[in-house]
Amino acid sequence: MRIAVIGTGYVGLVSGACFAEFGHEVTCIDNDEAKIARLEQREIPIYEPGLDVLVKKNLEANRLVFSTGYSPGVPEAEVVFIAVGTPASRRGDGYADLSFVYDAARQLAPFLSDYTVVVNKSTVPVGTARQVARIMSEANPTATFDVASNPEFLREGAAINDFMHPDRVVIGVDSTRAEEVLKAVYRPLYLIETPFVITSIETAELTKYAANAFLATKISFINEVANICEEIGADVQDVAKGMGLDGRIGKKFLHAGPGYGGSCFPKDTHALLRIAQENGVTCRIVEAVVEVNAAQKARMARKIRKALGGDEGGKTIAVLGLAFKPETDDLRDAPALTILSTLLEHGARLRAHDPQAMPEAAKVLPGVKYCSSPYEACEGADAVVLLTEWNEYRALDLMRIKQSLKQPIFIDLRNVYRPKAMAQLGFAYHSVGRVK
Ligand code: UGA
Repeated sequence: MRIAVIGTGYVGLVSGACFAEFGHEVTCIDNDEAKIARLEQREIPIYEPGLDVLVKKNLEANRLVFSTGYSPGVPEAEVVFIAVGTPASRRGDGYADLSFVYDAARQLAPFLSDYTVVVNKSTVPVGTARQVARIMSEANPTATFDVASNPEFLREGAAINDFMHPDRVVIGVDSTRAEEVLKAVYRPLYLIETPFVITSIETAELTKYAANAFLATKISFINEVANICEEIGADVQDVAKGMGLDGRIGKKFLHAGPGYGGSCFPKDTHALLRIAQENGVTCRIVEAVVEVNAAQKARMARKIRKALGGDEGGKTIAVLGLAFKPETDDLRDAPALTILSTLLEHGARLRAHDPQAMPEAAKVLPGVKYCSSPYEACEGADAVVLLTEWNEYRALDLMRIKQSLKQPIFIDLRNVYRPKAMAQLGFAYHSVGRVK
């Protein structure tokens, strides 16, 4: 099949490369000329494991092409995916900014030739697909098309695998013709017995927000349980295990930590609250989830302060990990941004390391000294804070870390190490929701 994907951000680029890997002929379109030029040179603008290999392979097989214009690409396509960004609105009011989605709809409409299915893959509020249809009809009254919603559930850092082996595919359509076309797009997944949820457009749009808000709820829930654990001397890891083995609960997304971050959960929880509010209903659980997450980040700064004897002013703190999670260079809404800014404001000196996120971090956290290894970061520091659980921090040479530090204070905000073992090594060890 011929497919066009508009937007070469995270979702667009991964989807485009994976559709090409399915055997489709894919044109990835972006109006950022420099980005397209780099992509044609096989330079991938984001760090996503396996994506470079997939792009290269499919470029060489001529199944994947990049373009700055809609033609060729859109007129030949049976399906056009809109996968442009939907950042939080600059108004700071919790709305998603849909201008990129609507611009794409307006611009692609004149290029439609035969019947085309136009699919929203960007995360958008309920009702957006209908707006896209309206905008396209206005821009090209003679075009024949259906609009569908096909939300993406991929995780940064595991995006290729998530795309190729999803738990489910959600398709929101209101025509059987569009349904058949989308089933054909995803035929390789159908063959591996991936469940398909075929539903109305509005239901598909809401499913995405509900899924992300629920995952965020699990995290905030376990973070509050962790805080109770700290007060009563219980171990949150064991509580999570004991809960999670109940198949109705599930063990994933029950890792206590410094709070969730990234480009999705913070934005999508706020957007869901907006959707509820606009429709005159409440979503109190999600309101609490958002509050708990903010409190958790603040609590982490206090935890570090307490470990340093009540004042971080003038102290040097080594920070391992800046990205909002491992295997990404993404810093958007990373807990590191809030926690480190607080420490800097209170006069701490920071020496940080991250395998991928340092170039980005240098732009937003200029007051930090960036180091080439975790050991260099620890050199002469009063304490070390493990903030992102990169694999390379799971196998640190702990004796070397201890020798590099001025004081053997280890604050593990991802519960990577074991309290007893760390105490035996002579560390003053602090973690989240576990007895020291
Ligand atoms: C999330 C969802 O997991 C994807 O299914 C969804 O497609 C995506 O958002 C999206 O809407 O595009 P992502 O933001 O890449 O994916 O990252 P996650 O792996 O979900 O992690 C989000 C945050 O939660 C991270 O800061 C992570 O450290 C934190 N987290 C996750 C915890 O603190 N505890 C956990 O148990 C799990």
